Amino acid sequence: MIHFDLSSRLKLKTTISAVSLMLSALTPSLTFAISANNADFPARNAAKEELGKFLFYDKILSGNKNTSCATCHHPLAGTGDGLSLGVGEGGRGLGIMRDTGSGSDAIHERVPRNAPFVFNLGASEFVRVFHDGRVEKDSNAPSGFRTPAGDAFLPGIDHALAAQAAFPPTSNTEMAGQAGENEVADAAAAGDVQQVWSLLTARVMAIDEYRTLFAKAYPDLKVPEEITFAHLANAIGAFEAAAYRADNSPYDYYMMGQTAAMSKNAVEGMKTFYGRGQCASCHSGKFQTDHAFHALGMPQIGPGKGDGFEGHDDYGREQVTGDANDRYKFRTPSLRNVALTGPWGHDGAYNTLEAVVRHHLDPQKSLSTYDVSQAVLPSCTDLDEQDFIVHNDEISRTNLASSIEINPVALTDYQIKQLLDFLHALTDPNSLDLRSTAPKRVPSGLSLAD
Ligand code: HEC
Ligand code: HEC
Repeated sequence: MIHFDLSSRLKLKTTISAVSLMLSALTPSLTFAISANNADFPARNAAKEELGKFLFYDKILSGNKNTSCATCHHPLAGTGDGLSLGVGEGGRGLGIMRDTGSGSDAIHERVPRNAPFVFNLGASEFVRVFHDGRVEKDSNAPSGFRTPAGDAFLPGIDHALAAQAAFPPTSNTEMAGQAGENEVADAAAAGDVQQVWSLLTARVMAIDEYRTLFAKAYPDLKVPEEITFAHLANAIGAFEAAAYRADNSPYDYYMMGQTAAMSKNAVEGMKTFYGRGQCASCHSGKFQTDHAFHALGMPQIGPGKGDGFEGHDDYGREQVTGDANDRYKFRTPSLRNVALTGPWGHDGAYNTLEAVVRHHLDPQKSLSTYDVSQAVLPSCTDLDEQDFIVHNDEISRTNLASSIEINPVALTDYQIKQLLDFLHALTDPNSLDLRSTAPKRVPSGLSLAD
């Protein structure tokens, strides 16, 4: 992937300020538009990234050795899975072709939220991850992170993105499998995350090729004695940060002074985004996110997170803070590469970029007229009937509607088209073909095929 080196980025900074000034003369709100540079991302480390690439694609990290991170964050699906709600452990196939398994191996529940993209999450400003921010940097916590593992979280983690990588293997639905199927699943079901991490570390360390890779990535450590799951997580984080950096979009070139990089309509859309559309009141900064939590009233689909009506609702940020004021709030996502990352919203309720943008413009109406047929949910007889339980419950829908914190914005159809053109201008062309980010084989010898 081509990225500007720091010096050329810095030289361009001067141009950027000149352009920003120029733009601000045109429309004052555009001064909020800024782009990123190398200093925003962690220092590169080839040996760690190489190791992380294998771990990201290796099913060895799942209890039954049948699911990898890439199962749900695949290079052919914009680092997501192309589904509204992911199909974890038990499913077969990739992306929208994935099924829900069969017989006793069939999935037991859908993953309750949409698998987000992994683009740019290594940038230092991403101090919290997950739709509800349940993994976040916290200097008061012993490990430096606030996570569902509490004070017992692994010490020595590099950044929030690396911290996140410790959690999917501890989820029975995502990677561990069902209790009784394997010892990792048993530990996960018992809530013993430390045991999950040590079992998986031992599994990986039993493979010669991995020991060699760890020795290269961590030359100061005794391998395998001193390796913990934190070293696995840091390697995965290093790989994700480097491979899925995506800040060479037409928007970035435009901000560096190449005004021809964006079409006239995209520039108009950008003015709407930073002006009348009020998008930047939440989608602000270099990556179009304030990293905060807001209630938008996106329709609730799928099994939910144990909240509300029959336990099938999802209270979002309240799950983390316990504060009812945070009910239905979800983290503002970055909009980099957003055109590549459908379906959209924390539960993938919307299957077109236009539909999710229109939701913002009139959330109440969009919620009450939501067309459930757009949800991309591979069928599973036992689960299908749960999928719209909450959405079809009038009281739940009214509660959700009353939490909505944005007012309708009136835009013409043409302005909406231009806004979409701007969102497309946030696509880094390098991200259109991510084949080079996938290994041809993994050290465990397990299949990469599905
Ligand atoms: C079964 C599907 C599945 C698997 C397997 C999986 N993920 Fe995810 N991933 C998800 C879902 C769903 C979420 C969002 C969950 C939430 O926010 O509550 C997520 C969230 C994330 C995020 C946070 C993104 C953000 O914007 O906050 C990252 C990073 C990530 N996963 C990386 C990984 C890594 C690394 C692995 C392997 C160790 C992995 N995932 C395995 C489905 C999956
Ligand atoms: C009040 C804050 C706020 C404002 C204003 C806002 N957004 Fe959002 N946006 C969010 C949040 C929060 C989400 C995620 C909501 C969810 O998943 O439930 C989101 C999601 C999105 C998504 C889907 C991203 C994805 O990966 O699924 C798009 C596209 C988007 N916003 C575009 C816009 C546009 C365009 C505007 C202006 C018309 C706008 N937003 C205004 C907070 C806001």
